[in-house]
Amino acid sequence: MRRVLTYGTFDTLHYGHIRLLQRARALGDYLIVGLSTDEFNASKNKQAFHSWEERKAHLEALRYVDLVIPERTWEQKPHDVKLYHVDIFTMGSDWQGKFDDLSALCEVIYLERTNGISSTMIRSSLQPDEPSSTSPAAILKRAR
Ligand code: CTP
Repeated sequence: MRRVLTYGTFDTLHYGHIRLLQRARALGDYLIVGLSTDEFNASKNKQAFHSWEERKAHLEALRYVDLVIPERTWEQKPHDVKLYHVDIFTMGSDWQGKFDDLSALCEVIYLERTNGISSTMIRSSLQPDEPSSTSPAAILKRAR
């Protein structure tokens, strides 16, 4: 049994997330996702569109995800690796090199990020007042 661990916010679940989770799960037999809590995101001045409970439900509906745990701090990763007997830690390539310290405890693998999609893009299209929004409501509003 090879256990894989990854972290993230996974807001407005999109195909970049799905591709990441599919490849993460394929690295082993059991995938654990550390899902950033709303409080942890607030400490980074980040606000998700969906609550932690909603984001957890989205992840639990996926066949690639076996367990969702809360990510509350930056420091918890080595503790989680030990607690859950993790063999492989993986993140998207936007985090390349950032978690190399964990290689003392397990294998660390960065997976290529999918181009052209992000939660930030989707969130801005859900807010018609955002200047960059591409939602039908925003396009109509600008056209008037
Ligand atoms: N990810 C990816 N490809 C994307 C978006 C995200 O592979 N297009 C990966 C990230 O590298 C990370 C995981 O998915 O390992 C969770 O990323 P998260 O930050 O939740 O998603 P983003 O869409 O990048 O969110 P935001 O725009 O809020 O930063």
